Amino acid sequence: EKVILAYSGGLDTSVAVKWINEKYDMDVITYTCDLGQGRELDTIKEKAIKTGAVEAIIEDVRNLFVDCFVWPALMTGTMYEGKYPLATALGRPLIAHRMVEFAKEHGATAVAHGCTGKGNDQVRFDVAFNTLAPDLKIIAPVREWRFTRTQEIEYAQEHGIEVDATKENIFSIDQNLWGRSVEAGVLENPWNAPPEAAYNWTVPPEEAPDTPLEIEIEFEQGRPIALDGKEMDGVSIIEHLNKVGGEHGVGRIDHVENRLVGIKSREIYEAPAAMILHEAHRELEFLTLSRQAQRFKTYVAQTCADIIYDGLWYSPFHQDLMGFVEKNQRFVSGHTRIKLYKGNYVVTGRKSPHSLYSEELATYEEGDSFPHEAAVAFIRIHGMALKTQAQQQLLKGEP
Ligand code: ARG
Ligand code: SIN
Repeated sequence: EKVILAYSGGLDTSVAVKWINEKYDMDVITYTCDLGQGRELDTIKEKAIKTGAVEAIIEDVRNLFVDCFVWPALMTGTMYEGKYPLATALGRPLIAHRMVEFAKEHGATAVAHGCTGKGNDQVRFDVAFNTLAPDLKIIAPVREWRFTRTQEIEYAQEHGIEVDATKENIFSIDQNLWGRSVEAGVLENPWNAPPEAAYNWTVPPEEAPDTPLEIEIEFEQGRPIALDGKEMDGVSIIEHLNKVGGEHGVGRIDHVENRLVGIKSREIYEAPAAMILHEAHRELEFLTLSRQAQRFKTYVAQTCADIIYDGLWYSPFHQDLMGFVEKNQRFVSGHTRIKLYKGNYVVTGRKSPHSLYSEELATYEEGDSFPHEAAVAFIRIHGMALKTQAQQQLLKGEP
């Protein structure tokens, strides 16, 4: 019998290959995809085989990831608890989908992942598997064996499995184009400042260059299409912004988040491109969306953030909301200029052919076309209900 294992080459999944071999006596086919995590995929293939896999599947799904997961999330404005751009959470449903395809192709009867039994990722994988292929058995070695990370390292050493993690460097890391998630080790005490070793994509803001960098980002119907006037594909845009953002110390996030399984966990994120693009995109929306559309959309964004975080990507309700967002973004085209400086990212200009901003209406100078004479009557009617209510219901002297 065959099982497709989501394989990163890290500690959990390396140990999992051996452990599934021993415990279930199944042939392990590893599945690794390039989501822009920046590891050498060739060496991962070699490593998987060396660790005991019968076959190692490798594929580049970066374009699919950006077009079908990252851009919709950006267009929606989803940020879990207002802080986490959801990199890990967006990758899982894509990985699960591809694994199901390969399971069918290879006649596998099971799928496996290396998530722990107290995290979100197990939920995202399992729910996606159960939705897309309810007949597949799910094996989750780390959840079943309940090793501590230290015990895992020992198991790896006993079985001659090479791993990067050491008992000192015990961070659990997940990364893709949209961001890098780091937890465990000293980070488990939320009072501890993250050590520099937890970061890999960004310099400390105080060590960033003294000269700011300004970037012009062009969007078309909510999707980024060009940087500084140069058209680029999505993957390149994100890679470039991660690089320059990181150089300017942009994109560090330190969050104590509410996991779906009912615990709080302290996580460090690095997401320069995501932070820059969300900010630039939001500013373009301020220019192009009506007040009502904007208000409503913040609610959609928050709802979608929970849906994605909670592993419900493939739910029909999520599709409904994405339908709204797609339509809502049709006028979000134009340019935003954003300045990166020592960890900050500040929008300094925006323009759009569909701008709702009217200088003629807004100006305090010559050429003002605002109907001033209508203001007094407008205010009178606008405040009428409150005036009536106040006479009946406000206690005298109460502020
Ligand atoms: N807390 C983040 C999430 O639930 C990241 C999870 C993966 N993080 C990790 N360090 N392995 O999406
Ligand atoms: C894991 O449990 O494997 C990582 C953390 C999480 O999923 O929240």
